[in-house]
Amino acid sequence: MSTKTTAELDRERIAELTEREQRRLDERTDASRAHFERARTTLAGGVSSAYQEREPWPIYLSHGLGSRVWDVDGAEMIDFHNGFGSMVQGHAHPAIVEAIRARAELGTHFAAPTEDGIVVAEQLKTRFGLPRWRFVNSGSEATMDAIRIARAATRRDTIVKIFGSYHGHHDYVMVSIGVPYERIGDREGYASLPYGAGIPQSVADLTVPVPFNDAPAMERRIERLFEEGRPPACVIMEPAMMNLGVVLPEPGYLEAVRELTRRLGVLLIFDEVKTGLCVAAGGATERFAVTPDLVTIAKTLGGGLPSGAIGGSEEAFEVVESGAVYQVGTYNGNPLSMAAARASLEQVLTTAAYRHLDALEERLLAGCNGVLERFGLPGYAVGIGAKGCVTFSPEPIVDYESYKAHQDAELAELAWLYNMNRGVFMTPGREEEWTLSVAHTYEDCDAFVAVFEEMAADVSA
Ligand SMILES: Cc1ncc(COP(=O)(O)O)c(C=O)c1O
Repeated sequence: MSTKTTAELDRERIAELTEREQRRLDERTDASRAHFERARTTLAGGVSSAYQEREPWPIYLSHGLGSRVWDVDGAEMIDFHNGFGSMVQGHAHPAIVEAIRARAELGTHFAAPTEDGIVVAEQLKTRFGLPRWRFVNSGSEATMDAIRIARAATRRDTIVKIFGSYHGHHDYVMVSIGVPYERIGDREGYASLPYGAGIPQSVADLTVPVPFNDAPAMERRIERLFEEGRPPACVIMEPAMMNLGVVLPEPGYLEAVRELTRRLGVLLIFDEVKTGLCVAAGGATERFAVTPDLVTIAKTLGGGLPSGAIGGSEEAFEVVESGAVYQVGTYNGNPLSMAAARASLEQVLTTAAYRHLDALEERLLAGCNGVLERFGLPGYAVGIGAKGCVTFSPEPIVDYESYKAHQDAELAELAWLYNMNRGVFMTPGREEEWTLSVAHTYEDCDAFVAVFEEMAADVSA
């Protein structure tokens, strides 16, 4: 890690560059502006999800192919955003296009099971080492249902999550995510804070946050919950934290969490909506060799179609098998999504594909770390499988507190603008990561590094 401290950076220079790059992006995205003017008269904020909003207007895309996307102004960009990590297959992969085409001609929805769903479940069972599966349509549905299963299985209401982790947009987990530093509360008893309006405090109070990478703190908090007469049903966590850039688990942490949850009779849910099928064939579960009671996946599963899944042990799924929990949904196991998922798992996300992703990742991380080193910028590149980021921080980020204290939001914003003005489509937001696809090449990674180098040189000039 580079040793230059944040204070040594020329803040005026960063502000100047940010203004220049912002102007340049505004000037080159006239068609996006026009789309926005039209969209805002019907779509709230001109978009379908708050995560697509952007000041002064969002960048609207027209199409994608392989590792590339095109915006409505005609700019071709290498896609490192990849639909928040959904498109590890690359855009319009021929095997997936063909599977969707063939399925569309046979009917796209029956609300009755099809063979493709069985094949996908068999694939997931092998990859994640968990015997029981159900399908849903998004990551949020997956985490919502997994928590309900855990609650039913344990007959408890309280749940434990990691402070700062995002697990989707339902009330159970829209708690203690992006909050001002001073509202976090004491590390031994973090506050349960609704994330945005419309979430009842009484629901948020059922969700108890603990710090990442600190198994003793988790154990102490769970023991206190037992003493308070509200033992938790589950711990829901990302095994490698995304949505704060990338925060890897420290050696022994996941093993300790597995041991303590088992010992205390609390179910462990790995939310692999971002990591699953993205960091290895069997996600972080395979990569770190720690098996949870329940796992949730989505994003990459559908090859660009809405889908998600919950996997689990036979014991955890007993409440679903018995009918005690209604795990339901009109579009669950939708034939089109299942056809795409089957093609993706059988033909695209193969062992060779994960080798390719690992090789690309290594190149990208090494390239970015080289730039940080050469220019003495505070930060480090970190990643796993197809996911990674440059974390601008003079200190290692290990949890939400260290993220809030040290991450340099100004540099993160500037890096995004440099990318967008130089043919690199990147996830907006200081907490986001890149996602590689099987269609990416070493040249694509080198192009990313070259843009980063240009920014580093300009900031240091
Ligand atoms: C870790 C994690 N879990 C759950 C979700 C929710 O997924 P979705 O947006 O498909 O509902 C997300 C979305 O970014 C996520 O990152």
